[in-house]
Amino acid sequence: MCGIVGYIGNKDAFPILIKGLRRLEYRGYDSAGVALVNSDTALNVYKSKGKVDNLVEYCSDKNVSGTVGIAHTRWATHGEPSALNAHPHYSESGNLAIIHNGIIENYSDIKKKLMANGVKFRSETDTEVLVQLIEYIKEHKNLDLLTAVQVALHEVIGAYAIALLDKRTPHQIIVARNQSPLVVGIGDDEFFIGSDASPIVEYTDKVVYLEDGNIAVLHKGEELKVVNILNRRLNPEIQTVDINLGQLDKGGYPHFMLKEIFEQPDCLTNCMRGRVNVDTDNVVLSAIIDYKKQLINAKRFIIVACGTSWHAGQIGKQMIENFCRIPVEVEYASEFRYRNPVITSDDVVIAISQSGETADTLAAVKLAKDNGAFIYGICNAIGSSIPRATNTGSYIHVGPEIGVASTKAFTGQVTVLTMLALALAKEKGTISSSDYLEIVKELHEIPEKMKKVLELNDRISELSRIFTYAHNFLYLGRGYSYPVALEGALKLKEISYIHAEGYPAAEMKHGPIALIDSDMPVVVIATHNAMYEKVLSNIQEVKARKGKVIAIVTEGDDNISRIADEVIELPTTIECLEPLLATIPLQLLAYHIAVCKGKNVDQPRNLAKSVTVE
Ligand code: F6R
Repeated sequence: MCGIVGYIGNKDAFPILIKGLRRLEYRGYDSAGVALVNSDTALNVYKSKGKVDNLVEYCSDKNVSGTVGIAHTRWATHGEPSALNAHPHYSESGNLAIIHNGIIENYSDIKKKLMANGVKFRSETDTEVLVQLIEYIKEHKNLDLLTAVQVALHEVIGAYAIALLDKRTPHQIIVARNQSPLVVGIGDDEFFIGSDASPIVEYTDKVVYLEDGNIAVLHKGEELKVVNILNRRLNPEIQTVDINLGQLDKGGYPHFMLKEIFEQPDCLTNCMRGRVNVDTDNVVLSAIIDYKKQLINAKRFIIVACGTSWHAGQIGKQMIENFCRIPVEVEYASEFRYRNPVITSDDVVIAISQSGETADTLAAVKLAKDNGAFIYGICNAIGSSIPRATNTGSYIHVGPEIGVASTKAFTGQVTVLTMLALALAKEKGTISSSDYLEIVKELHEIPEKMKKVLELNDRISELSRIFTYAHNFLYLGRGYSYPVALEGALKLKEISYIHAEGYPAAEMKHGPIALIDSDMPVVVIATHNAMYEKVLSNIQEVKARKGKVIAIVTEGDDNISRIADEVIELPTTIECLEPLLATIPLQLLAYHIAVCKGKNVDQPRNLAKSVTVE
């Protein structure tokens, strides 16, 4: 949700900033802008509506010189997407420029106050209020920039990651963080700024993840200075990041989403590396070794997450309850945080988040922690805010996910939840050793079986052409397949803009069946498991109303092939692991339908990858 990039050093800033914006474009792509200070200490600000390409085009005949600059790609919160509302915003005097990710909640009170004192505004954004406030304080109280930022941030309520330039002091950039992510890269005589490490890793692997309340001064030729709002000097922890640059490009695929779908077998191998050992038939999660007491004594698990991660949580719930016999609740983080939930020190809260930055999930973690719960994180982005706020956790290790629609993160999350359920059940003695061994062995086979599912790509691509006409889709599943149906429907709607709903198959009779006619495609996950006969009846009900059934079945299934319109066969596996295979054809179906409809698969309208505002 909004991407921030910055550079200060001896190189030309513009190409570094543009490359960085492209890496962060997944965070928002309504508009983009750049501010550069050049050798004449002129501050040049260029902004345009739409994607980074539009900004590059717009800048083609402009002066983009300068070795100091900040840039931004926006996902609109206050004010429609337009060049005027794009960042950077600058103060009335034209001396200060700011970029901001987050929301200033009390911006309208501050704006009224500043306007009463004669300050004029150009845009409708909360961000412009912040830069005007800093300038006003600096001038009226005759303060240096750092002190003015500290005083201004005292007045501000809300979430922010900001970077600020003053053309009168062009040797420094000031950045600050509260609830929105911000990373500083440390190079040789140069600093980089990013909302995450992806725009930085090309130049340096030394980074500092700023903490809430940190303000950093990036001064050319000096070491990084980090202080808090009261100007107390802090000791930042310099970390080494390990991101392979190849993970940040499309690697020959037409879209990141397709690349990420195809990466899943390797991702799951990485996710299980050192954790699932078939020689010893064991699952080892270091978090469980280190925090065994807290985890096995939990009276209840509460899973908090949003979107796709919430769907993974629904699968985790079934596994933990089945194998560990501990009750599990799965909560939308956005609801949980505001409804005064009952949380005790006997609860373990599992926070699931690909980005590790989702504002609602982070707030739910903080709330649960304040109420004494033990927090376990399941995240992908290393060093992001949620893993840093938890007591322990397990990374899913699937590599950067750049396509806005989540794919490999989902299967990675389900894999970690499976390992967690198995390891806990073994510790608690609630699973038989034969069941445990069978699942561990089969889990190990899943990447190979996923490869077989991916061979269906061409067939699914053909199939997708038949269904691009549809305005509505229904996805049905039961048991472990119900969250898969929810996930399939979410994938389709977010990238193809076709309305789709996921339902527990038996619930169809209680309402959605009224929608079924010969124009309605119904995707049914009907694999050969305990629910098979029941789902078969649900398919008959759809066919009796002339619905078009696309059935996801286990290989060799003759019954369903006879009645369904289209059949996609999956390799056999154990019921609880079926989601890891059944999700893939649904990801591919959504992908190919969106491509057929000419949609922007990697950057669907109105969406952003990392939802850092509530
Ligand atoms: C859907 C999707 C979103 C995210 C949700 C949570 O494809 O990507 O629904 O799953 O915004 O994001 P994280 O997992 O980063 O907390």
